Amino acid sequence: MVGAFDWTERERFMIEVEHLTKRYGEFTALKGISFTANPGQVTGFLGPNGAGKTTTMRILTGFTPPSSGRAVVAGYDVFNQSMDVRKRVGYLPENVPLYRDMTARGFLHYMGEIRGVKNLRQKVDDVLARVALLDRAESRIRTLSKGMRQRVGLAQALLHDPEVLILDEPTIGLDPLQVLELRALVRELGRDHTLLFSTHILSEVEQVCDRVIIIDQGRIVASGSPFELRAELERGGRVLVRADAPADAVAALLGTVPGVALAEAANDGVVVTPVSAEVDPRPELARAVVQQGWRLIELRPVAVNLEEIFLELTRQEQADMSIADVAMVDVAETETTEL
Ligand SMILES: Nc1ncnc2c1ncn2[C@@H]1O[C@H](COP(=O)(O)OP(=O)(O)O)[C@@H](O)[C@H]1O
Ligand SMILES: [Mg+2]
Repeated sequence: MVGAFDWTERERFMIEVEHLTKRYGEFTALKGISFTANPGQVTGFLGPNGAGKTTTMRILTGFTPPSSGRAVVAGYDVFNQSMDVRKRVGYLPENVPLYRDMTARGFLHYMGEIRGVKNLRQKVDDVLARVALLDRAESRIRTLSKGMRQRVGLAQALLHDPEVLILDEPTIGLDPLQVLELRALVRELGRDHTLLFSTHILSEVEQVCDRVIIIDQGRIVASGSPFELRAELERGGRVLVRADAPADAVAALLGTVPGVALAEAANDGVVVTPVSAEVDPRPELARAVVQQGWRLIELRPVAVNLEEIFLELTRQEQADMSIADVAMVDVAETETTEL
């Protein structure tokens, strides 16, 4: 199997980053980041454009030296042992350099020869199968859809059986169906690789990743499972209350309940903000509504998604940016960083 590795050697295939910094002249793109990525997992590297995702990935793949700090990939130092690292890492850069007039198979064969891959014929068939492109193997790359080209890029990254996969925003510019297909493939590859996957699309990490590392302006602002990050914010979070009474009246009543800092009428009910994370106002809210003689229709935490978590985490730093910038609503297709 492509990328299979000995699970008893798990530790060797981790990505370990310690106090990594990167300066471009006067500008500091990475301000001392530390994180790890584990085998058999998809680690999501999430952040807005310019956060430092590509810079980090280029350091991890040995294409750019760090200014200071350390990164160990598959047991090798990216700076001192960069050839060893490259042998064990499959890299899908932001802009995959594909030779458009080659066939998919021809391109993979060519890349395999450059890397000295053994049993190349078989290997090319294996990776084409893994990315579900066997039926288009003889097509010229320029005739393939963007999604298929991305899969050729992925096949290229898998050719030399790397234990570690580093994929830089692989879903950018794909249509919705292609995005779903690629995410499914990433999840599958995560099972037998250490996979680091960058994106600026927040919902994407919830769908694809086991762990998330959130980076913003060259700093790691949070990390954890999507579940943990969500729980962190839901704890002491806002509660939505619906009762069969006018929202204004409900809000006025709930504003007087102990532990409630604020009760505001919203479209679909009353949103209650507790005074602190230690307080769960829900039992008291339910009692107040029922005592008033109203019927309680709904009582639940206000849905928190990663968009909101991200907003929360970066609120101070980004106070001067517009919500649209922070929420990364625009899916940017133009990337500035060159290979
Ligand atoms: N070669 C470079 N020279 C100067 N600045 C760069 C270079 N590459 C990236 N940067 C800057 O470093 C910051 C991080 O960029 P990058 O790592 O590409 O972010 P991301 O991939 O998260 O969008 C950005 O402000 C970018 O303009
Ligand atoms: Mg980038």
